[in-house]
Amino acid sequence: MHVQVDHPCVQHKLAIIRDVETGHKRFRELSTEITQFLCYEALKNVKTREVDVQTPLAVAACRKIDTDIVVVPILRAGVGMLDGILDLLPTARVGFVGLYRDEETKQPVSYYDRFPPQVEGGTCIIIDPMIATGGSTNAAIDLLKNAGAGNIVVICIVTCQEGLDVVEAAHPDVPVYTASIDDSLNENKYIVPGLGDAGDRLFGTSHH
Ligand code: PRP
Ligand code: URA
Repeated sequence: MHVQVDHPCVQHKLAIIRDVETGHKRFRELSTEITQFLCYEALKNVKTREVDVQTPLAVAACRKIDTDIVVVPILRAGVGMLDGILDLLPTARVGFVGLYRDEETKQPVSYYDRFPPQVEGGTCIIIDPMIATGGSTNAAIDLLKNAGAGNIVVICIVTCQEGLDVVEAAHPDVPVYTASIDDSLNENKYIVPGLGDAGDRLFGTSHH
């Protein structure tokens, strides 16, 4: 299952973040802003419980979120989406998955993982700006499932059909929320048109 969030506010920001002229400061801000819209959508069906709240006038029947939320950025680029989610969900816990794509094989190489115990029974949100081949996302989901997670959702800024297919084939129970499903992957397994190397653009490690 995947959802492409077509809201004009998201698409407007996506147009700016893709622009090669957008520098790393603005790129970071836009990652935060887009992530917040995507997170809002992704948590539409999160578990809630009914609570009675005393207003100055009467008791109101309200709902509160009734699950531990664990946000899991895939290092390094996923970190650029973390502040946005923590602004929305200040009590969320944070786990980390360290992965990079081997430049030759394009396969993910795992170098770190650490999760809070609440992955078991809680709602886990994997964040990474890009799902390209889908290898990194699948590796992160595998690690989380091995740690006991049963309820996982993925938020990415840009993906492509090829990568989505790979993730959905391996993990049909994990929904993906994205701002865009792009055309294809190039020979270097970069998303086209995409937005380039997300980690480099976020952290200012490219020449632009
Ligand atoms: C990027 C991106 C994803 C991965 C996507 O990370 O942030 O994690 O590539 O590619 P895939 O779907 O083909 O696995 P990268 O390996 O560039 O590492 P970085 O975040 O440390 O720059
Ligand atoms: N990683 C990126 O940062 N961008 C892509 O297009 C693919 C992988």
